[in-house]
Amino acid sequence: MKSFFNATFFADNRTNLLKKTKSKLLVIPAHQTQQRNADNVQPFRQESNFWYLTGINEPDYILVLSTRETFLIVPKKDTVEAVFDGEASAEHLTKISGIQEIMDEREGWQKLSGLLQKHKKVGALLPMNQKYFNVAMNPARKQLITKMRRRAPGTQIEDIRMSLAQMRMIKQPQELRALQKAIDITNQTLAEVFTPNWFATYDHEYQVEADITAGFRRRGAAGHAFTPIVASGKNTCTIHSIANNSPLQKNSILLLDIGAEVENYAADISRVVPIGSKFSTRQQQVFDAVIDVYNYALALLKPGQNYMEYEQKVEAYMGKTLVTLGVIDKPTRKNIRKFYPHRTSHFLGLDPHDAGDYSKDLQENMVITVEPGIYIPAESIGIRIEEDVLITKTGYKVLSGALPLRPPLMV
Ligand code: GLY
Ligand code: MN
Ligand code: MN
Repeated sequence: MKSFFNATFFADNRTNLLKKTKSKLLVIPAHQTQQRNADNVQPFRQESNFWYLTGINEPDYILVLSTRETFLIVPKKDTVEAVFDGEASAEHLTKISGIQEIMDEREGWQKLSGLLQKHKKVGALLPMNQKYFNVAMNPARKQLITKMRRRAPGTQIEDIRMSLAQMRMIKQPQELRALQKAIDITNQTLAEVFTPNWFATYDHEYQVEADITAGFRRRGAAGHAFTPIVASGKNTCTIHSIANNSPLQKNSILLLDIGAEVENYAADISRVVPIGSKFSTRQQQVFDAVIDVYNYALALLKPGQNYMEYEQKVEAYMGKTLVTLGVIDKPTRKNIRKFYPHRTSHFLGLDPHDAGDYSKDLQENMVITVEPGIYIPAESIGIRIEEDVLITKTGYKVLSGALPLRPPLMV
């Protein structure tokens, strides 16, 4: 697939970041590779900010950015590593990123140490807060900060994450093209798998997952942007049900929450289909209620709409909906959150839950998901509909709108 990006995109992002942070010196690490088991590594996925500023998908690099000079510090590979893993040439790295100075570790750190002594302050990415993400964070940020402090004691670290988030939340034309490609691949794959008689050929969730994975790769996506959710029956009530191992029970429902990844950009689309020729009366009732909430949310979207107020309005509307469905008797926050335990929207881009500033009003060229859901474990009914939506000058455009919300799914 031809790339949607060229070196100018990354160079402009670097220039804009320097302007926005007003920092004289910024140091940004790539991700490190992570262990899977023994000497097996996890498939490498670049840290999104590093990619946004360089276009480079290699581990362990460091980007040094100042008003006077920009350079990359590239780890030295020994002969064995180079033979087993390959090695990117300096010309190749320059062509992708537009960065002229590619330095090895010794030379690069010598230069960086000098800059740290001179500037005293450095803009960097602080590690993410593990309290909110119960996973071991990639150690690259922490190690870089520790090493900078060792090389230049007294260096002050300024956190630049919010500046990057505010840049990344406004999508540029190249980014919108990559996102659209990821969305189109996801929709085409869903339409290919969910033909009107699809349930006659699948009897387990993993078979559906296998064909979705094949459909993404066959269409040129890198793969999944996140672990795919293929949930049937009572699994539909687990928001992130990712085991995808259960048998498909006739007359229950199947919830798909999937997204292809194209040049590190994520689609994020959810659909629910009956396992059989049609929904039961109750399944249909809950499904229609979710679509109604979806349409309510969509109608609120336009520049100037405060994001938090939007979430509150949708939550209130969901409260009324849940009362009508007979799921709760009073629309209190606690009652609503029991059956609708997640937010309606999140930013979408390089990360499925993309960087952005949720305290801001919506602005033109933001991309968000709209994904209301109702989950009733006692009835084994979990319904979530998710679309990817661009905020336009006057309102919104549903980027994933080529695929109907209701089955049969056809593009
Ligand atoms: N696929 C995760 C989400 O919809 O947020
Ligand atoms: Mn989502
Ligand atoms: Mn999703």
